[in-house]
Amino acid sequence: MVHLLLQLLMGCSILSASPFALSLASTFALSLASTRFPQKPFSISLSHYSPFHYFSSSSPSTSTRNTATTKFSAMDNPKNSSQKDFPSGLDEESEQQYSLHSNLLQQFSTISSIDKAWIFNSNKDSSSQGMMFSVSQPNLLANKKRTFILSSTVTKRSDDSSVKLQWAPFPVEVSGVSVMVPSPSGLKLLIVRNSESDGACRFEIWSDSCLEKEFHVPQSKHGSVYTDGWFEGISWNSDETLIAYVAEEPSPAKPTFNDQGYKKSGSDDKDSSSWKGQGDWEEDWGETYAGKRQPALFVINITSGEVQAVKGIDKSLSVGQVVWAPSNEGSAQYLVFVGWSFETRKLGIKYCYNRPCALYVVKAPPESKTNENEIHSGEDAQALNLTQTISSAFLPRFSPDGKFLVFLSARSSVDSGAHSATNSLHRIDWPKDVKFDQSAKVHDVIPVVLCAEDDGFPGLYFSSILNDPWLSDGHTLVIPSVWHSSQVLLSVNVLSGQIKRITPDGSNFSWSLLTLHGNNIFAVSSSPVDIPQVKYGTFVEKEAGNNEWSWSDVSNPIYKCSDKVSSLLSSLTFSVLKISVKDASENSTKGSSKPYEAIFVSSKTKKSDTCDPLIVILHGGPHSVSLSSFSKSHAFLSSLGYSLLIVNYRGSLGFGEEALQSLPGNVGSQDVNDVLTAIDHVIDLGLASPSKIAVLGGSHGGFLTTHLIGQAPEKFVAAAARNPVCNLALMVGTTDIPDWCYVESYGIKGRDKITEAPSAEDLTLFYSKSPIAHIAKVKTPTVFLLGAQDLRVPISTGLQYARALKEKGVPVKVILFPNDVHGIERPQSDFESFLSIAAWFNKYCK
Ligand SMILES: *[C@@H]1O[C@H](CO)[C@@H](O)[C@H](O)[C@H]1NC(C)=O
Ligand SMILES: *[C@@H]1O[C@H](CO)[C@@H](O)[C@H](O)[C@H]1NC(C)=O
Ligand SMILES: *[C@@H]1O[C@H](CO)[C@@H](O)[C@H](O)[C@H]1NC(C)=O
Ligand SMILES: *[C@@H]1O[C@H](CO)[C@@H](O)[C@H](O)[C@H]1NC(C)=O
Ligand SMILES: *[C@@H]1O[C@H](CO)[C@@H](O)[C@H](O)[C@H]1NC(C)=O
Repeated sequence: MVHLLLQLLMGCSILSASPFALSLASTFALSLASTRFPQKPFSISLSHYSPFHYFSSSSPSTSTRNTATTKFSAMDNPKNSSQKDFPSGLDEESEQQYSLHSNLLQQFSTISSIDKAWIFNSNKDSSSQGMMFSVSQPNLLANKKRTFILSSTVTKRSDDSSVKLQWAPFPVEVSGVSVMVPSPSGLKLLIVRNSESDGACRFEIWSDSCLEKEFHVPQSKHGSVYTDGWFEGISWNSDETLIAYVAEEPSPAKPTFNDQGYKKSGSDDKDSSSWKGQGDWEEDWGETYAGKRQPALFVINITSGEVQAVKGIDKSLSVGQVVWAPSNEGSAQYLVFVGWSFETRKLGIKYCYNRPCALYVVKAPPESKTNENEIHSGEDAQALNLTQTISSAFLPRFSPDGKFLVFLSARSSVDSGAHSATNSLHRIDWPKDVKFDQSAKVHDVIPVVLCAEDDGFPGLYFSSILNDPWLSDGHTLVIPSVWHSSQVLLSVNVLSGQIKRITPDGSNFSWSLLTLHGNNIFAVSSSPVDIPQVKYGTFVEKEAGNNEWSWSDVSNPIYKCSDKVSSLLSSLTFSVLKISVKDASENSTKGSSKPYEAIFVSSKTKKSDTCDPLIVILHGGPHSVSLSSFSKSHAFLSSLGYSLLIVNYRGSLGFGEEALQSLPGNVGSQDVNDVLTAIDHVIDLGLASPSKIAVLGGSHGGFLTTHLIGQAPEKFVAAAARNPVCNLALMVGTTDIPDWCYVESYGIKGRDKITEAPSAEDLTLFYSKSPIAHIAKVKTPTVFLLGAQDLRVPISTGLQYARALKEKGVPVKVILFPNDVHGIERPQSDFESFLSIAAWFNKYCK
């Protein structure tokens, strides 16, 4: 343990101002798991500037590349364009482009982002408190995210309208840490380290001065702790003696054979001449969950290290998002959690809110082994389904007084089959004795909005919430939510259902939530042309109940960029355009006839007669949204002299349920036409030249990209597609979500047609709705970025399409990333993707 001690000392000396002496480097080589969970089945690359930000189509990451290792030699090479002189395998023009732009891309990529922030109320001196920020930056050389902790002390100014933060002189890198969770009092910190090598987990409990306890949980007890931001749930009980969490259930034993043939289980395991068979294949949860079959509930006693599986939960349930129910002196303790069940198959769950789920309550494990049998045999040991009257219930949070439980529901998504849709918020009143007849009465707090008034609340769109989201009145929640093309913060009174937009409107910046500070808020605000800024919100009580939120900047060392990036950004501007629907028919719903939006980014100093070339950017999903927040990769492209048109076509989140539901059944036509209309709109305004337009999109955005170059072949001079859906008839048999192909192609009636054995009629429809049906017309040079581990849109569909274009003689470039999943977010892959997209567009669209 020498290395531990050493790190501990270092941690203490650097972070003396912090509530926890962190020394988190370890021999385990896992990086801090991401806490985001993007909202789209087909989202592409979503790292962002907040822990709670999963909607944007931006792709950031990439970072400090050691220039000594790059081999850009075009500049000093003799003039000889034969391939042999370029060991990189690039042609001369690409080499020049790469060497010209890679440094700028690096400068964008080194901008840090805040993943989480915590305030510690443990300090008795109420004028100042400890704060910790978990910050990350892509580490290109190591090809993973670098995470570090920066501490500060927050002091309220005397007038209470703003704060001053005193920052520790340096951050400390955290490595090998899967998740960190401070206890409710702020006196203890849990650190979980999942080990990739042996499947074991390590739990550490830290105090303000040292590591207090360390427990190894062997793989025979459970696999990795879930830190995925979805099934993930780690909850301290109120007296901070037990922690409930979600971990992978141990794998069933595999059949063993030896020289005698089959070896009965239970016999001596240390037989060196035996070998293991594979046993039955077990389905996993699909995209980003390869090998994750069964999240289950456990409780660890942090005094003894004893780990117990929670009993009474049906094996058919996958569970997550556990919280402790309010406890009453002397009575049993209960846990509330979310359970997902499935029928014959686990369909992919990442970005798919249309999977039915319910809240359950179950008795927490008994305190000691002696009375285990007694309680287990009791009838109340079985988990109770609390939300049988609604098809979806998740993100449970108890009110501070324990009197009610609020939760989010994606029932409009479950009921329609769309992978994501407008959410609703609900409340259950919590009986002190935890006695329910059958199921609980579910009250509606915020219903699904079908069609919003012009500037009215468009409906609820969020999928993560703070552990403690309550203002001091005990019944007002603060949550982020998508409102048209921006993410805003809302306050919601869960007793009256009153909703208030508490971030400023008008500027169209996007906001995300860091943490609450009593009745005040730490948040982050950014725009496509403004790097993120930490903000502090205070509630100003005015006369006559006319209360208002006011926001001030918090100076911080985290969001910094180079002078070059800063000067490039200052020459750019953005606006949000409203685009009128062109093809509204007599049968259209009211909501689907309302305008949709596009974000337009351009140079401030436009020459009068010539426009910059335009890149049209399309998000995935399709039920997702491009937010008006900062995106490193988009900002990089606009800094190279392109205008951007980022279209939130109908079907996007943030515009009400009717507009969203107008798309399923009409993909490949309505969405394609919405994009073409948006392009015509900026051409008509004189903002773009019709001869210099490129298009870029991933996933469903790649579906649109390849549709557009087939349906409007004269319009686009270059295209880039990331893990695109090019042939639904091929994809339906290979994707983890075949149901998506049915619902998006047939519309809501597709739900009844879903089968593992598509008919010839189904395949014909899928083909006709696909970009490949238009391939004969394509002539646009196209670059493809493909992630070989993508389970959502397997690369066979993109490769087939790319090969077919090659066969026709259309210029094509394919980059295949062998270890990337659907998002193509690994730092090196993201870097190479956007560098090659820039080179491709510079070649064909300047
Ligand atoms: C270019 O390289 C090729 C192959 O190395 C060589 O045969 C050719 O002579 C070179 N041409 C010039 C102009 O250097
Ligand atoms: C945790 O374990 C300790 C030591 O075995 C025991 O005394 C204590 O009662 C346990 N705590 C709970 C809450 O079960
Ligand atoms: C609990 O209720 C939900 C909602 O009706 C349902 O989908 C689910 O199957 C129920 N769970 C069990 C185990 O019965
Ligand atoms: C903000 O967005 C709205 C559309 O939601 C638009 O009408 C308004 O002009 C935008 N304001 C700016 C400054 O772009
Ligand atoms: C409107 O709906 C009716 C009845 O379903 C149908 O006959 C008609 O063709 C539809 N009109 C349009 C323009 O889609």
